[in-house]
Amino acid sequence: MKQYLVTVLIVLIAITANLNAQDKPLSINHGPYIQNVSGSGVTIVFSTDGYVLPGVLLSESNKEPRLIRNSHDGLVNVGNGVHKVRIEGLMEGQQYSYKVMAVEIKDHQAYSVTYGDTLYSGKHSFSTFSAEKELVKFTMFNDVHDNAAKIGSYLEQTKIDEQDFFLLNGDIIGHVDDEYQIYHNFIDTCANRFASRIPMMYVRGNHETRGNYARQLKNYFDFDNDKYYYAFTQGNTRFIVLDTGEDKPDNHGEYFGLVDFDTYRAEQLEWLKQEMASPEFQNAEVKIVFAHIPVLKVDKSWHGMAQLAKHYGPVLKKADIDLMLCGHTHQNAWVDAKKTGFGYPMMICSNEDFLAAIVEKGQIKMWIKNQKGEEVDYKVVKLK
Ligand SMILES: [Fe+2]
Repeated sequence: MKQYLVTVLIVLIAITANLNAQDKPLSINHGPYIQNVSGSGVTIVFSTDGYVLPGVLLSESNKEPRLIRNSHDGLVNVGNGVHKVRIEGLMEGQQYSYKVMAVEIKDHQAYSVTYGDTLYSGKHSFSTFSAEKELVKFTMFNDVHDNAAKIGSYLEQTKIDEQDFFLLNGDIIGHVDDEYQIYHNFIDTCANRFASRIPMMYVRGNHETRGNYARQLKNYFDFDNDKYYYAFTQGNTRFIVLDTGEDKPDNHGEYFGLVDFDTYRAEQLEWLKQEMASPEFQNAEVKIVFAHIPVLKVDKSWHGMAQLAKHYGPVLKKADIDLMLCGHTHQNAWVDAKKTGFGYPMMICSNEDFLAAIVEKGQIKMWIKNQKGEEVDYKVVKLK
């Protein structure tokens, strides 16, 4: 009898939970946030907690909004969870406003589809990049290691809408366990505070290669060529993002035979050489490289850093870059151009501070600030 009652109770709980799940209205549960911005395109990313037909309603000044949906292999994109809507053909340096929309698909059969509610986000706006922009302002933080409140305190000290982009320079989370962590520990804070309107550029850190969900991390971003290494232009500056990978040798016991960063760094180096031969790089007046692990010539260093110095250092030296911005060491450090070993100066930002930068005619100005907004360091790089 007792066992019978327990079974009935379990069945009732299961039915109630199922009814609650069915009752819960569909929602846009994360985002939107913007990714992969260029002079002519943008990707709007958001998530729903149900199966939908996603889209973006894009408005340009004085024009009726147009609905943009993506398709692949002849099929319009539908799905659950993360949605990415790529928009191309935009005008350089132009402001656009948008709303994301999601049409619920209640039932999707071969010969019948039942649509449900249509959801809309609030209205947001963004600007495409422009070669004509005279001042380029950006904010960088790194090594936050799951502390979303720290991101919040950096943002408190930042004039968000003056920034051209925010650069998350690696180890924003300590390792990658699941989707909840990715949203809760950084993306939600960024999306709510700035990333619905200002680009959130992501650089992978060595800690973000660890954990059983690390192979899914890329799904939450949109990168050119679907790689963690990429480049973009704003104003007169070419920005290059490198993925410096893990710090220890691939066969180190900590990785359990599950990494292959020597091959990856070699593949990325070929891309870097191509990038540096491109007109976008060659024609840029200013060249700034972001890398989580510093590319620096030092006598004694761990495997990853030694590999980077040996293979990447000479390529970057030859390309005559103006500045490298890094994290990883958890200490602020300014390394003069004569001391990096490769002719460029480097600023390393600690895990307790953030970096604000302005690229202007003839110079790059940089401030390291703490969570109270107090100036910790200030440097100017005079452009050649
Ligand atoms: Fe790191």
